[in-house]
Amino acid sequence: MTLVLGLESTCDDTCASVVIDGVKVLSNVVSTQQEMHEKFRGVVPEMASRAHLERMLPVLQQALDRAGVSANDLDAVAVSNRPGLIGGVMVSVTTAKVLSWALNIPLVGINHIHAHLYTGFMEEPQCNMPAVALTASGGHTLLCLVRSSLEYEVLGSTIDDAGGEAFDKGANLLGLKGGGGKALDELALGGDPKAVKFPRPMLAEEGYRFSFAGLKTALLYYLHGPGNKPQDPYAEPDIAPDVLKDIAASYQEAICEVLVKKAFRACDEFGASSLFVTGGVAANSRLRTMTVEMAAKKRIKPVFPAMALCTDNAAMIAGLGYEFLSRDIHDELDLAAHARSEETG
Ligand code: KG4
Ligand code: ZN
Repeated sequence: MTLVLGLESTCDDTCASVVIDGVKVLSNVVSTQQEMHEKFRGVVPEMASRAHLERMLPVLQQALDRAGVSANDLDAVAVSNRPGLIGGVMVSVTTAKVLSWALNIPLVGINHIHAHLYTGFMEEPQCNMPAVALTASGGHTLLCLVRSSLEYEVLGSTIDDAGGEAFDKGANLLGLKGGGGKALDELALGGDPKAVKFPRPMLAEEGYRFSFAGLKTALLYYLHGPGNKPQDPYAEPDIAPDVLKDIAASYQEAICEVLVKKAFRACDEFGASSLFVTGGVAANSRLRTMTVEMAAKKRIKPVFPAMALCTDNAAMIAGLGYEFLSRDIHDELDLAAHARSEETG
């Protein structure tokens, strides 16, 4: 039995988790800063770093307490050291190094996006390979061909905004005061997804690149008139609640259709028998139903991680850490923190 501690602070969640043998989650503590950044309508990196510094050790203690273990029981520490907001990344990397040094246990640096992808294995450890993984978060949107927990190839990614960013910016334009994609998802419930014909960016293009920046502009112009940029684009639009619901559902439909259709196209091309849907956007209710419907038609197994593993968490960091450690792959105490990564951008 191997107990791995995971640490994560690449964006606006301070997270620590204890996981046994890569899949059994004993604790998964997430301290979110969402409220702190809400009034700025996006994460303020400097504020995020300071909050991670204040919260990291209390969150770590909570993760140990909830798991019912002490620091001395840990076999290794895994930390998300790339990609992310650099000030935040440095907080968990420094914490992990000190633990590794003081407890004399191995340290492993993890790519945050690879860890999102790995949550598919946490859900379905024995899944048939190859699989395609759609990973859509606030900062990234990627399609990967997956051959094993440690072998994947990036097929394509976004050339501008990420899928989660499209949800967050759309939520702002629709006048939602916080909650981002989750709030838009809730507003769209019961709305008519065919009410407004929003574009499906790059759907017709061959390959697996995405682009969502134009979709956000299409929503802005739909709400305020073509070519119009109101003084405060985030003011609540003067639109009846039912109509607003339809607009939200239509906008959500456009994002989901592009993500899901491209993911299944990749499954066809590479003969994948499973599709992992991971990252914060994987929590979206429409993305899930659309995936399940299409998967049934194509006889492909859809794999959705538990909700708590979709948005940022440290269980996925500890889980993937175990995979590296069990093959004797780990890092030294000079492990660096990176804002971007070679593998996933
Ligand atoms: O993976 P994640 O927690 O953090 C990053 O690595 O960025 O993803 C956060 C993103 C945000 O853009 C958030 O709005 C989106 O995931 N998200 C959702 C939903 N829940 C979270 N988007 C659509 N529908 C949801 N239910
Ligand atoms: Zn993430």
